[in-house]
Amino acid sequence: MVQPDRRAFLAFLAGSPLLALVPSLAEAVQQGDLAQAAHALDVFDFEAAAQKIVPPAHWGYLMSGVDGEATLRANRDAFNRYQLRARRFVDVSRIDMSVELFGQKYASPVFLCPIGSAGAFHADGEVGAARAAQAKNQLLVVSTQATKAVEDVARARGGPIWFQLYTTNNFDITTKMVQRAEAAGCNVVAVTVDLPAGRNTETATRLSRVDTRDCSQCHGDATGDRMRPRGGRGAAPKPIFQGIDMQGVGLTSPSLTWDFIRRLKGVTTMKVVIKGLEAGEDAALAVDNGADGIIISNHGGRATETGRGTIECVAEVAQAVRGRIPVMVDGGVRRGTDVFKALALGATAVGIGRPYIWGLATFGQQGVERVLDLVNNELRLAMIGTGTRTMRELGQAAIIDVTGRR
Ligand SMILES: Cc1cc2nc3c(=O)[nH]c(=O)nc-3n(C[C@H](O)[C@H](O)[C@H](O)COP(=O)(O)O)c2cc1C
Repeated sequence: MVQPDRRAFLAFLAGSPLLALVPSLAEAVQQGDLAQAAHALDVFDFEAAAQKIVPPAHWGYLMSGVDGEATLRANRDAFNRYQLRARRFVDVSRIDMSVELFGQKYASPVFLCPIGSAGAFHADGEVGAARAAQAKNQLLVVSTQATKAVEDVARARGGPIWFQLYTTNNFDITTKMVQRAEAAGCNVVAVTVDLPAGRNTETATRLSRVDTRDCSQCHGDATGDRMRPRGGRGAAPKPIFQGIDMQGVGLTSPSLTWDFIRRLKGVTTMKVVIKGLEAGEDAALAVDNGADGIIISNHGGRATETGRGTIECVAEVAQAVRGRIPVMVDGGVRRGTDVFKALALGATAVGIGRPYIWGLATFGQQGVERVLDLVNNELRLAMIGTGTRTMRELGQAAIIDVTGRR
């Protein structure tokens, strides 16, 4: 960590016009010596700062893709396929970024994705993220694998949150979790379907090997498999499994079919959103099988390797859905211009995962708030710059696909 006097000096530098004239000093500030959340100029400042304080095994868990991480890279790179198409002489003195989803109005289309074990990055975990979501009036999706109880997260948000569901392979257990989330005040269940059975998270494994800490407080034993928290897969045990015997129960099921969605709708009044679709055919089937929404996602490049960047799936899915249910997307979103492109292609809301965890790791709630401010401000500037005043005005005409493909 940075010493207080050095912090003050860096804080002074960060606000100084001299910075632009002195590249080596600019570099020092850019390298992650953030004195305050407010000094971050983009989400990457939080990434650099977080890497300095998050232990290697937890950093590996956060940043890992699968295999050689081609899908992880594709999520970022694919945004370059689209450019903004500016229109002029539009009165952009008033910009409205608000969106409505299932009866709830949010300040902007940016939402916080479900990230398992947020407590591994900051003691406040999902509660810190929820407080930030409340302060900024943004949607938060809480993970099945959350380190905080869903009731505490919902209370901290002070309004409906969405509950991300790992289906398990035991429907009675699934029903118990879903009904608990509903009773806690969740209005939507987001069913994750992109991880039917296992994955190869190489980066996570490599970095866990170089982490020499004694991790026995939270994980099995000090020398054991640190990827496997105490209490079995995905447990610690996680609060949502309290009172449930998870012995021998899988978190996901390789034999899942569309029938699951119909069964799920039979045991909850929450809206059912499917998280992890990519193909237009599946999007059409989702509508046919009663889904209330879709989140296009490849789990942040942590599921199927050498897949498409998720931004490249948006037009295909939106075309198949034809406006019947909302389409959302996450994966590699780091800038307001990324959000803008996803909305132009047909998304209603756009999720960020790792960036808000970088903010959480460094400054807790304040870090998450700053991440939301940064991305929202960039989105606002993209709207102003293109002559787009509302979400309704934001369509395909606002961007160009440089490949000429559709
Ligand atoms: C460390 C980590 C944990 C995650 N845990 C979950 C989870 O528990 N459930 C889930 O549906 N998705 C999970 N995801 C995927 C995110 O919800 C989201 O799809 C992804 O992070 C978006 O990509 P981005 O991180 O590039 O923004 C996780 C992602 C990361 C990086």
